[in-house]
Amino acid sequence: MTKATNITWHTSTVTKLDRRVQNGHGSCVLWFTGLSGSGKSSIANAVSSELYRQGINEYVLDGDNIRHGLNRDLGFSDQDRTENIRRIGEVANLFVDSGAVVTTAFISPFRSDRDQVRALFQEGEFIEVFVDCPLEECERRDPKQLYAKARRGEIKEFTGINSPYQAPEHPEITVRSDLLTVEEAVEQILGYLQDKNII
Ligand code: ADX
Repeated sequence: MTKATNITWHTSTVTKLDRRVQNGHGSCVLWFTGLSGSGKSSIANAVSSELYRQGINEYVLDGDNIRHGLNRDLGFSDQDRTENIRRIGEVANLFVDSGAVVTTAFISPFRSDRDQVRALFQEGEFIEVFVDCPLEECERRDPKQLYAKARRGEIKEFTGINSPYQAPEHPEITVRSDLLTVEEAVEQILGYLQDKNII
């Protein structure tokens, strides 16, 4: 819902298509979703590094970082997570409009929130990447020792422990991060972008 009145939409003179033509590649969002510790950030950053190496205009929006700035007013209640994802979706849309291949690394646990973000985009621009890793493996890795804290009852709404994670039903890409190396995951994702003629 839009709160403000008396606002008009301005169509920019330079369009998304113009920027794509100038860049020599398409633009899209690779929307990573998965449990904490599943490897979203590592894989998203590795994808971005490879895109950068290839001269592609890229950017990473990462959960922990965005929560230090843009979304520092938000916590981990269901409502706050929904608002977190809504804002990131809008930001990602601006990046896609700017002609970039943007990767986002947020748990984004709720299917309806991800679907609402998808609806902002044109066909083919929103690529849902399910980083599929069993909870037991994420908990074994526990890079930030947050699962241990959650098990001790020190975090009350931790995804996978006492807050739900709804896996995508029809993701464009599923990365089995418990079975693949980061390099193999990057190859899989770049292969998809090449197949779709985005890069
Ligand atoms: S989301 O659910 O709103 O998409 P987001 O990806 O921004 O979450 O942030 C998740 C990161 O915040 C985790 O990787 C972890 O480092 C940290 N975190 C802190 N508290 C929680 C919590 N209660 N549940 C999940 N992650 C948490």
